[in-house]
Amino acid sequence: MGGSGDGTFLFIFISFSRFFHFSIAVDTLAPNQPFRDGDTLVSSNQRFELGFFSPSNSKNRYLGIWYKKTPDIVVWVAERNNPSTFRNGFLTVSSGGSLSLMNQTGNLIWSSNSSRVAKNAVAQLLDTGNFVIRENNSMNSENYFWQSFDYPTDTRLPGMKLGKNFDSDIDRYLCSWRSIEDPSSGEFTYRIVNNGLPQIFIFNGAIRKYRTGVWNGLRFSGVPLFITTTFAPIVNFHNNNPLTMYEPFNNEFVTRVVLNSSGLMYRYVLNEKNNEWITRTISPDYLCDNYGTCGPNAFCSSIKSPICECLQGFKPRSEQEWLSLDWTSGCVMKMPLDCKSDGFVQIKNVKLPDMLDFQLNHSMSIKECEMECLKDCSCLAYAKSNISGAGSGCLSWYGDLIDIREFIEENSPQDMYLRLPSSELGKYVLCLILDC
Ligand SMILES: *[C@@H]1O[C@H](CO)[C@@H](O)[C@H](O)[C@H]1NC(C)=O
Ligand SMILES: *[C@@H]1O[C@H](CO)[C@@H](O)[C@H](O)[C@H]1NC(C)=O
Ligand SMILES: *[C@@H]1O[C@H](CO)[C@@H](O)[C@H](O)[C@H]1NC(C)=O
Ligand SMILES: *[C@@H]1O[C@H](CO)[C@@H](O)[C@H](O)[C@H]1NC(C)=O
Ligand SMILES: *[C@@H]1O[C@H](CO)[C@@H](O)[C@H](O)[C@H]1NC(C)=O
Ligand SMILES: *[C@@H]1O[C@H](CO)[C@@H](O)[C@H](O)[C@H]1NC(C)=O
Repeated sequence: MGGSGDGTFLFIFISFSRFFHFSIAVDTLAPNQPFRDGDTLVSSNQRFELGFFSPSNSKNRYLGIWYKKTPDIVVWVAERNNPSTFRNGFLTVSSGGSLSLMNQTGNLIWSSNSSRVAKNAVAQLLDTGNFVIRENNSMNSENYFWQSFDYPTDTRLPGMKLGKNFDSDIDRYLCSWRSIEDPSSGEFTYRIVNNGLPQIFIFNGAIRKYRTGVWNGLRFSGVPLFITTTFAPIVNFHNNNPLTMYEPFNNEFVTRVVLNSSGLMYRYVLNEKNNEWITRTISPDYLCDNYGTCGPNAFCSSIKSPICECLQGFKPRSEQEWLSLDWTSGCVMKMPLDCKSDGFVQIKNVKLPDMLDFQLNHSMSIKECEMECLKDCSCLAYAKSNISGAGSGCLSWYGDLIDIREFIEENSPQDMYLRLPSSELGKYVLCLILDC
């Protein structure tokens, strides 16, 4: 991949540069300096390389970024939906700060766009794998005129923010490649949905395939803590509005998260001894991760067989379907709520239901939350919206409870309180004592 450079020349060049230890700004492109097919920029930590490439078996040429040590792993593609088939494309950055990609005959194929104009712009491939346009004199400023991290392809890198960039009004999300050979926009996207509390979804078109669960102040409620301690995401809030999610850049290890063309999310870590990528996590992983596997008002537990069970006080909508392991129509209440003497049962260690018909108040206490929910007969369940510290906030649900998962892990604390009529509540308490 990259350029088909002259090996001998490369060898002499490398020996030469090692010998003299000279440093050239190979990570930076100056204005109006043409960058041709075969040229590359390399980040100063030698991790990332930018240049032209063709995916396996494809004749198309693209401008992209890959790992210098594993060049077949492409992390970003500039003009994914507009490739050229000729090898004589070139890239330039204007001093005003826009990138232009031309084909052989000088026709514009792709360009970056900035709402601001620079005085003396340069383009630089940063150590994080972010390709940025910045003012030449402001070395450390993050005030970029444009950055590739605002236009992710199928890969999330540490330091890359997903969600809305309010400066540029860009919503940043991943979109899978169409196939291994074709980086054009595929069927699947991985994006943050912000309804007051962020959740990350994998969508197939508009269909929800997977959900991380609601951000509860510490983690996404559907992702156990043990997975995320090393790669713990950070969610930025502003006036209680979730803005962006990212994973901090850490120079200690090389990791990437990729949405593959079949809609699966892979976390890889590079073993730097042998330059092999190791799969760390895959989502959705278990059957229980598939969105709404058990239908409404049921929960999924990967240690149970069958994996789906109706919530306490609910019964299958169709016994027959349920027995044939078709859970799609879910469960309905056994006894109607009487609204006056209802109470709540605590369900421990759950991935909270999807935020479809809900209310959210960040300042309520859990007691206030219970009182509010009790007052409204259509309120079916509630939970703390923020379990960090002593816990606070109130998230309550008013319709079917969708996509609940039960965790057995101790480190997945997130409780939900489910409304039940007093008759069912009594049974539940009795069962707790008698173990029935
Ligand atoms: C950027 O600034 C450095 C240091 O001031 C200077 O040496 C270099 O020529 C400048 N590059 C461009 C492209 O203006
Ligand atoms: C360059 O692009 C233009 C416009 O899309 C096209 O007409 C022309 O044939 C292309 N030239 C080459 C060499 O690909
Ligand atoms: C750049 O953005 C402006 C305004 O947002 C738009 O009018 C223009 O067509 C864009 N140019 C390109 C090349 O996308
Ligand atoms: C995506 O991952 C799945 C599971 O490992 C695999 O079967 C499938 O081939 C992958 N798809 C692509 C296009 O790599
Ligand atoms: C949130 O709850 C508090 C305390 O009950 C209340 O004062 C406040 O008005 C509520 N905020 C909203 C937006 O409902
Ligand atoms: C969650 O609670 C913690 C601890 O009280 C607090 O620091 C944090 O700001 C809260 N998060 C939100 C989004 O309210």
